[in-house]
Formats: sequence, structure tokens, C-alpha cells
Amino acid sequence: MNGKQLQEYFDQLDDAHGDESVSSGKRTARKRESSRKEREARLFIRAQEVSREFRFTYKAARFEEAWLLDSLAQLADHQWIADVLRKVKGGKEASLYLCKPGGAVKSDYVAAKIYRPRALRNLKRDAEYRVGRVDLDADGTALWKEADKNAIAKRTSYGEEVRHQSWIAYEFATMELLSAAGADVPIPYAMEKNAIVMEFIGDGLQPAPMLNAVNLGHAEARRLFDRIVHNVDIMLSQDRIHGDLSAYNILYLNGGIKLIDFPQVVLPQGNPSAWRIFLRDMTRVCDYFSTQGVHCDAYKTAADLWTARGHRIVEKVHPRFLDPENPADRKMWDKR
Ligand SMILES: Nc1ncnc2c1ncn2[C@@H]1O[C@H](COP(=O)(O)OP(=O)(O)O)[C@@H](O)[C@H]1O
Ligand SMILES: [Mg+2]
Repeated sequence: MNGKQLQEYFDQLDDAHGDESVSSGKRTARKRESSRKEREARLFIRAQEVSREFRFTYKAARFEEAWLLDSLAQLADHQWIADVLRKVKGGKEASLYLCKPGGAVKSDYVAAKIYRPRALRNLKRDAEYRVGRVDLDADGTALWKEADKNAIAKRTSYGEEVRHQSWIAYEFATMELLSAAGADVPIPYAMEKNAIVMEFIGDGLQPAPMLNAVNLGHAEARRLFDRIVHNVDIMLSQDRIHGDLSAYNILYLNGGIKLIDFPQVVLPQGNPSAWRIFLRDMTRVCDYFSTQGVHCDAYKTAADLWTARGHRIVEKVHPRFLDPENPADRKMWDKR
């Protein structure tokens, strides 16, 4: 499939996943029904083509299977994965699957994070996060072609594709960078198309819980808080701000932690809202730890780390970075 066909195929998959907007009127509904059937037929054929080459244990629904096969076929070819065992988490933007690795990885299990294409297209706040970032191509190297940059800026369909790829490439490149810098992140193994293969954080088949679901003893809470601050500082030393850090994007295993979920990373220098985003990350971390009996001053902790790395505190945030559903963000909004 070429890029355009692939994009259409993704669109069809998304629709098959039930993302279609609510229909108005019976005629539209009937029309939609018949085109849905047509799409289903095409997808089914496509799935069968791929599944001749790659089969897995996990019993997926028909369209999920087509999506998985298409996302993972290359990764399987390259020995990153040998089998999909089960779905660990199904999200709106990405789903996580427990897989058996192929010969390229020496461990019992690996995790495959597979993005839904619609999710990437719906990243409303994408532009703000991308300020100061260099777009990356499928290999994770910086885009250098002016034509590609223009395509992104103009939002042509090719440009959209490059932009989606850049988003995934950012997550992967960030994990590689942080892993090499000694941060507590899952080891990244490979990225192809809309999927990332990484170390599975869990105990046997059981995935590690998110920190927000864990109650810590007092001493352990203190120790883990310090460890997270240390990780946030490693990120800063590598010129990266998580951008969506909270107890929901930290996994807890064997008394240790792993930071996850990096597609929205922000660069401290290039982005005028960087300090506020950084402070919000720290505030959310402190929100959790204060429920665990750790007294923490989010502002002071963030400011100390920030200035020690030579950054200036700029109390300005683009409103698009704020989530109106989140009380902490609301507070920032009111302060403006
Ligand atoms: N490497 C991993 N090992 C085990 N579980 C993981 C791993 N990465 C992600 N998860 C689980 O999958 C969920 C979704 O992953 P995440 O990267 O946070 O994507 P998103 O929040 O955008 O859906 C996480 O909350 C976590 O429970
Ligand atoms: Mg997450």
C-alpha cells in the first residue's frame, strides 16, 4: 500500500471502530450502512492477505485484527515481535498489547503501543506542543526537506501523514534519549508505522499498576518522590519536559517507578509556555504524593530544578495547554 491508500485504510478502520459522528436522518444512515458494509468487506480481504504471513494468539475483533496485522506485520518481519498475547489497555488514542518478542529481543515479553490514526489527527493541541520541536521522520531523524515542512504547515494530506509519523517518532526518540541518559523508562526497541515496541513493565503476564492506583508507605512515598524528581531532572538535562506527567503516566513495579507516555514532550528553550508546562507536571506529581503523606512544594521543587538548569521562569502559558476539566489547570487559568 502506498501512503495515501494506507491513510484511507486507517480512516476506514477508525470508522469501523465506531468513531463516526452521530448520523442525522434515515437516508444518511442507510447510505452510511451500505458504505460501511463495503469498507468492512475491503478490510476483511486486507486482513486475510496480511494474516497469511502473520498469525497471533490474541483473539481480536475482526477490525481490530486487521488494524493489528497491518500495524505489526513489519515489526514481526523484523523479529521484534513473534506473537500478540493479549490487549493490556485499550485507550482512545493508543492501545497497549502484551507480545512475545521475536529473535531481536532477549526477554519473555515486550509491549506494543499502537496508535489509532484518528487519535493522531485529533491532537488539537499538537501545534502548541510542537513549538520549538524539530519534526522527525519515520527513522526518528530530523526532517530536512523543505517540501515536508511545507506540507506539514499547509496541512496537506501528505503533510498530515508526516506529522503523525513525527508524533510517534518523538515518543520513540525521547525514550531512546532518556533510556541512554539513565532515566527510569521502558527500554525502547523499535518503531514502525503507528507502533512502538518497548520493554513490558510488569510481573510475568501482569502489567505494573499506574502509580495513582497504589498506596505507598510513608518512607517509600518519600523515596519514590525523590526518584521522580531525579528523573524529571534527567529529562531537563536532556532538554525535555514530559508535558503530561502525573501518577497516571508513572508505573509502579517492585518498589521502583517507570515514566511512560512521551509523544507530547516539550523542549524547554523553544517553547514560550515551557515553564508553565513544567510546573504543571510537577504540580500533578505533587497532587498524588500529598495524598501519600509527602509534603511537597511543587512550585519550589520545579523552580529549583528549572533555574539550576539555567532556564528563566516565564509566567506565561498558551491557553490551549490548559485542560478546563482539570482543577489545577483551572487555577492557572484564573490566575491569568
Ligand atoms: N511498557 C509498558 N509496560 C506495561 N504497561 C504499559 C507500558 N506502557 C504503557 N502501559 C500501560 O498502557 C497504558 C497506556 O499507555 P500510555 O503510554 O500512557 O498511552 P495513553 O495514555 O496515551 O493511552 C498505561 O497507562 C499503562 O497502564
Ligand atoms: Mg498515558
